[in-house]
Amino acid sequence: MAGIPHDHYEPKTRGEKWLHSRLPVIGLLYDTLMIPTPKNLNWMWIWGIVLTFTLALQIVTGIILVMHYTPHVDLAFSSVEHIMRDVNGGHMIRYFHMNGASLFFVAVYAHIFRGLYYGSYKAPREVTWIIGMLIYLLMMATGFLGYVLPWGQMSFHGTAVITGLFGAVPFIGDEIQTWLLGASAVGQPALNRFFSLHYLLPFIIAGLVMVHIWAFHSTGNNNPTGVEVRRTSKEDAAKDTLPFWPYFVIKDLFALAVILVVFMAIVGFMPNYLGHPDNYIPANPLATPSHIVPEWYFLPFYAILRAFTSDVWVVMFANWISFGIIDAKFFGVLAMFGAIIVIALAPWLDTSSVRSGRYRPMFKWWFALLVVDFVVLMWCGAMPAEPPYSIISLIGAAYWFAYFLVILPLLGVIEKPTAAPATIEDDFNAHYGKSSNKPAE
Ligand code: HEM
Repeated sequence: MAGIPHDHYEPKTRGEKWLHSRLPVIGLLYDTLMIPTPKNLNWMWIWGIVLTFTLALQIVTGIILVMHYTPHVDLAFSSVEHIMRDVNGGHMIRYFHMNGASLFFVAVYAHIFRGLYYGSYKAPREVTWIIGMLIYLLMMATGFLGYVLPWGQMSFHGTAVITGLFGAVPFIGDEIQTWLLGASAVGQPALNRFFSLHYLLPFIIAGLVMVHIWAFHSTGNNNPTGVEVRRTSKEDAAKDTLPFWPYFVIKDLFALAVILVVFMAIVGFMPNYLGHPDNYIPANPLATPSHIVPEWYFLPFYAILRAFTSDVWVVMFANWISFGIIDAKFFGVLAMFGAIIVIALAPWLDTSSVRSGRYRPMFKWWFALLVVDFVVLMWCGAMPAEPPYSIISLIGAAYWFAYFLVILPLLGVIEKPTAAPATIEDDFNAHYGKSSNKPAE
């Protein structure tokens, strides 16, 4: 697909021309900043900037923390206490980093569900979507690895549980688990390698974010109507868009400021609200906490993992057909990863010719149910693995898979979409009147 036609950077002065012919970096920055952006974007398009900011925040605060942290089983816990008590501003830096992880996931879930509602994953934005999913997986890995570092009770026993999942892989599970931990149990080798990877992954994420941005700049942004910007001429494209600078930059910064007010309030007044008190107890391999709970952002998938017990018929069937190779634990692991893979496959599972959920009357309801399902699964993940939570988790997991594997493909065939506006300009004028120059709110 051809890019949106627009004015490109033209070097004017001799100095600019000199640089441009050697390294067109100003041109790159100019084109990035002045990229034509659909003028009807709503507030759900702010999360990308929030994510970019949070990634930078995590890297900066992380680098400062590392200056005082010691990745050794005897010293890790006390080095974190040292950061909190002795280092200038240390408690603030740590609380920024700790809660920054939560902000990162709030933003990424809003960003993903935005994409799912407005069909941003659909052609031609599949590559943006897949890179986004890779980023999301790396974010999960980074979050998990980071949680190990303070070497508290939850760090230690959470690591044992999560790496134990790989032990469920038939035949080679124990070998994989040993390979991951660098030993037969959680200890110094695990802490060292988790620390190393926790430091590395955010930089890989940063690289992927650049490719992500490159990808959606190549196709142009989606927008709430799902109708593409006209590419017939520069004039037509200009009627559907505004340059990213200044309007969208200011709008995004305003949204970021509002979100940061809430974030600062949490960091300042309730920094441990989202954490688990047991992680303020030094790791003790001999005392397992009665209730091991992952961080909130893993909970929906943790609930899916635990939903498939050996008395569920699909598990019994899988066990029978695989001659006992797939047991309940392995099934749960497959379901957990499968629940993420189906999101990645959305571009190919959704058969509707209409992109935005706004013009899909049936889809809207199923989508709303998916959001509720996600919250219910999150809640179940924090509850003990016993009735009624196990049953609710199972229903929730079933709906999650049904949404992607059955409802999305089927809706495209049976649903009768309502009329979408012919152009973005029409949608804009319908909201603001034809004479108005005001951009969308
Ligand atoms: C560190 C993580 C991420 C960063 C920094 C990031 C950044 C951005 C930015 C700046 C935009 C444009 C503005 C916006 O739509 O909000 C964007 C668009 C997009 N992102 Fe992400 N993103 C991240 C993760 C993800 C994930 C996990 C997904 C989902 C799988 C995803 C899917 C998309 C899609 C489909 C678009 C295009 C939307 C459109 O064209 O309107 N992103 N991203």
